[in-house]
Amino acid sequence: MNRRNFLRGAGAAGTVAFFAASPLAKAVAGSMDNSKLMGFKAIPASVADTVVVPEGYVAEPLISWGDALFANSPKFSQSNDSKAQEMQYGDNTDGMTFFPLSNDRAVLVANNEYTNNEYLYPHQGKNISADDVRKGQAAHGVSIVELMKKDGSWVVNVNGRLNRKITAYTPMEMTGPARGHDLLKTKADPTGTEILGTYNNCANGQTPWGTYLACEENFNGYFAASKDVDLGGTYKRYGVRAKDWSYDWWKHDERFDVAKTPNEPHRFGWVVEIDPMNPNSKPKKRSALGRFKHENAALTINTDGHVVVYLGDDERGEHLYKFVSKNKYKPGTHASNLDLLEEGTLFVAKFDGKEGEMGGKGQWVELTFGKNGLTPENGFKSQAEIMIFAREAATQVGATTMDRPEWVAVHPNNKHIFCTLTNNKYRGVRENQPLNVANPREKNPYGHIVRWAPKGGDHSSSEFEWDIFVMAGNPEVHEGLMAGSANINKDNMFNSPDGIGFDAAGRLWIQTDGKYSNKDNFAGMGNNQMLCADPKTGEIRRFMTGPIACEITGLTFSPDHKTMFVGIQHPGEDLAPSHFPDGGNAIPRSTVMRVTRKDGGVIGA
Ligand code: FEO
Ligand code: CA
Ligand code: CA
Repeated sequence: MNRRNFLRGAGAAGTVAFFAASPLAKAVAGSMDNSKLMGFKAIPASVADTVVVPEGYVAEPLISWGDALFANSPKFSQSNDSKAQEMQYGDNTDGMTFFPLSNDRAVLVANNEYTNNEYLYPHQGKNISADDVRKGQAAHGVSIVELMKKDGSWVVNVNGRLNRKITAYTPMEMTGPARGHDLLKTKADPTGTEILGTYNNCANGQTPWGTYLACEENFNGYFAASKDVDLGGTYKRYGVRAKDWSYDWWKHDERFDVAKTPNEPHRFGWVVEIDPMNPNSKPKKRSALGRFKHENAALTINTDGHVVVYLGDDERGEHLYKFVSKNKYKPGTHASNLDLLEEGTLFVAKFDGKEGEMGGKGQWVELTFGKNGLTPENGFKSQAEIMIFAREAATQVGATTMDRPEWVAVHPNNKHIFCTLTNNKYRGVRENQPLNVANPREKNPYGHIVRWAPKGGDHSSSEFEWDIFVMAGNPEVHEGLMAGSANINKDNMFNSPDGIGFDAAGRLWIQTDGKYSNKDNFAGMGNNQMLCADPKTGEIRRFMTGPIACEITGLTFSPDHKTMFVGIQHPGEDLAPSHFPDGGNAIPRSTVMRVTRKDGGVIGA
């Protein structure tokens, strides 16, 4: 039976055969031991307004939007002003990293992706004042907070000397090929080298030299135009329009009025490197990693010492990228590592294969000025422009259009890489959403996870081999491709995989940001959830379910893997009836959860 037929008959089929069918799957299985990875009992889908974890596990709030970051932070209230918000944990927690300092001290760095006006302000966003805008900007960015062990549990230390808030107005330095380019110059920054702030930081990455990477995603949604200006061409490609997504920043901050500050949109859509160990350090935007709607930055050190970063651009019909550093990593926190992300080469993925095969070979195509048609004749005048308009460069070289690349994760064996493709509702509706080998579903409301292996285990190789690890679906209401791959069944079904990450043992954790209607295509799936997968067997088990109208996003572990931190984002969005985590009549608040085992064991084992 070929793989296509296998997928068509997915609902009832066993897991092993699907995975045995793929050469890459065989290679994955061969490179891992046979121990049973998952030791917990799967939980059912849920529509409850709470976080549910398996028997023997405990999930407790660690820190929520508005909680104190400092000893003198004001107490949370919906009426807090910008000054208060500057001293409190930001809104809508997302990607995060746990940096250990000692056995009982650590620093947690977490993105605060965006805000929901309906909860941010008592007036729910009507008649936004200048201070409201400032508060919104202070609720965005990155929160850095020390943790300490208290009675055996990790808790927030408001007295931590590394505690810091990075907002949408913290000064940062532009680095790399786009630094100082005319397209980055504004009245406030005539040199194009100093940018105020980072925002819409979706997911993240971390480096072995101890820095954190915050990725700027839907930056376009904050720009509006106070008068008629031409927003075609590159503005259109990046989704910058005359109307914003209702944040209203442009009304009191002319940076966000593209009629007044036309280059400001070029100053966002980057990966920002932050040194959490130095509270006075200036964050650096890394233009060598390209400008697009960055999801996360999955960094690994290649066997030859070059730093390789895999990057998804989260938009339907956009692409998957790879950065390879020019210089090599020196083990440890050596000072020469600090600017490894300043110089290197960016590539974009092209997936090849036979229709219906769900696997094949692929190539990384270089995005360098003068190569692959990236020339002045085709509208590319310099390496800076190629980085600023990386999407156009990717199109020029014939990159594969994807069903919204979200997180990328590198297996701890450093040989296999996974990327979530969350969904695509525009195929057949909008242009530039063709069916292709790696995105093979006519309608893709459920998403899938693609996996690849670089040739010879060399991350700097231009060739790779790929397959599809899981095709999400609903075997209760569909048959064939829409039911999902053979490792999807009525007990583990989900839609819209988004966050993914490996733990040290090689368990793959999958978080969803999907439809939680629990009906029609999504009947039986309940609220958003987190699952755990065995990359070797393909088995997937549900580990966590979230409260009403949330998404689950962001994960990190203490080094002993006995504590896991998981983000609950936008509970109760659009005024859905959630009161998580405070209960009663409280407004819902985005929250980082601390997950432990009652017996003190390793999470997931
Ligand atoms: Fe912020 Fe692609 O999710
Ligand atoms: Ca996401
Ligand atoms: Ca998402």
